Order: sequence, then structure tokens, then C-alpha cells
Amino acid sequence: MAKLSLIRASFMAAMVVASASANFLSDVDITWGDGRGKMLDNGELLQLTLDRASGSGFQSKQAYLFGRFDMKMKLVPGNSAGTVTTYYLSSQGPAHDEIDFEFLGNTSGEPYVLHTNVFAQGKGDREQQFYLWFDPTLAFHTYSVLWNPRRIVFYVDGTPVRVFRNSEGAGVAYPKSQAMRVYASLWDADDWATRGGLVKTDWSQAPFVASYRGFVADACVAASGRPSCSASKAGWWDQGLDSGGARKLKWVRDNYMVYDYCRDAKRFPGGFPPECSQPLD
Ligand SMILES: *[C@@H]1O[C@H](CO)[C@@H](O)[C@H](O)[C@H]1NC(C)=O
Repeated sequence: MAKLSLIRASFMAAMVVASASANFLSDVDITWGDGRGKMLDNGELLQLTLDRASGSGFQSKQAYLFGRFDMKMKLVPGNSAGTVTTYYLSSQGPAHDEIDFEFLGNTSGEPYVLHTNVFAQGKGDREQQFYLWFDPTLAFHTYSVLWNPRRIVFYVDGTPVRVFRNSEGAGVAYPKSQAMRVYASLWDADDWATRGGLVKTDWSQAPFVASYRGFVADACVAASGRPSCSASKAGWWDQGLDSGGARKLKWVRDNYMVYDYCRDAKRFPGGFPPECSQPLD
């Protein structure tokens, strides 16, 4: 607790108002894909495409240290088997931190799998997977990451699907000192994505298209060492799940969870990682 309030005090001292905008022209760079990523509608919409030669991707211009990040996404429709559409935060360097949303495509009419992971100081292996309770290819839905000093929460349309608590007290590293950028990509992973790689990408359906809009980073921008935070920082800095949120998390886990590394005893014959015995929210 004492340590947390110290971190907090130093952030408050450095706090400057930074506005959270929602336009791809000002907020992101398309970094790969040789023209396969495109900004449309004056930067309101960004489309990534994938064909046999390449996928595509973009990244935020800013790097952030804590915040709340929303992205609206409409996933590849029809036969999307083998494709992976991502939206994630990551730092650079060898012992990196990363918070991942990855959407594994499927054959027409079969469900996408939302694959999540958290890396702290280079260590990942914390996969949780879910089905969604809607068809993510018909309309835009909002996928959010809340990242504050106490927890990381993954939300789908405001419903928490996963919480990674700060369990430094139990000896588990937590992302808190490396700035992360926001990344998104559409790529081919037919060696593992759909039913463990059994179903291959159908290139006759290419180009595959995933659409993004409404990127909002209500966050602390890690510019030249000193973070500057959005005015509404107070809203997310201490945020956890209230009782309604905890109920929704349970609903998702009970009804939509496909895989949880914390229940995969075969994978951890020597015992589960320490964070697996922490409270769920
Ligand atoms: C694809 O559909 C199959 C059959 O319904 C299902 O078992 C699988 O989890 C789905 N998702 C992926 C990514 O394979």
C-alpha cells in the first residue's frame, strides 16, 4: 500500500492535462503491410487487409504508462479460418511487458476465439481464451484494456472478461515501469490459430479485411521520461471491479471460457503459477 501511494504521489506531481482523441491520422502510424493498411473517412476508420503475400498492422504514435484503452473492431467476416486479428499493448526490448487481445478466425458460421495473454518482464504463458456472446463480424464492438498499478482488466463492450491482478506480494512481476504502445495487426497464423492449425487459410477468400475505429487512449503519455496524464485519470487510476463487474466476470467465465492456463494441470505438473491462487477480480 505504502509503495502504491508513493507511485501515485509522484504521478500526481507530474500530471498535466493531455486530451484523449479518437482519430487515426493523429494517433497512429501504419507500420507494415505495404499499402494493405488504409485510413478512411478522414482517419475515423482504419482497415487492415491480409492476402497471400502479407498482412498489415499499425501502432500508436505515443507510448503510455497506465491508462484505459478502447478500440472498436469489426472482424474478418465469412471464412476467416487461419487469420488472426490483434489489438495489444507492448513495450520494447528483451524483458518486455505485453497485454494481448487476439481474435482467432474460423470457418463460416463457427465461432471466433478471443485469445488473451499478459507478459510481465518477458514472461507470458498466461493464456485465457473465450467465445464471444455475439457475432464479432457483423458490427463494431468495443474491446478495452484497463491498466493501472493494481490490475489489468480486459473488457468486451464494457463487460470484464479477464483480470490480471498486481500480485507482486506473491512474487509475480507486474507491468508498471515500461511504457507500452498500442498495436494492431491482421496476419496469417494457419499453423496454429484455428482448431490448433488443422483448418488452413482459404486464400480464394482473400483479401481478408478487419476494421478499426474509435481508438481512445485515456492514459498517461510517457513522453521524455515524465508521464503526462489525461484529465480524467482519476476515473481509471484506482478502478477495480464493483460487485456488478465481478458478477459479469463470473458470467463470462462460467459460460464463455474456452481455456484457462490456471486450470491446465497437465501443463504445470510442478504446480500452478502463483498468480493462479489470487482472487479472480
Ligand atoms: C472454431 O470452431 C470449432 C468448431 O465449432 C471450435 O471447436 C473452435 O474452438 C473454433 N475456434 C477456433 C479458433 O478454432
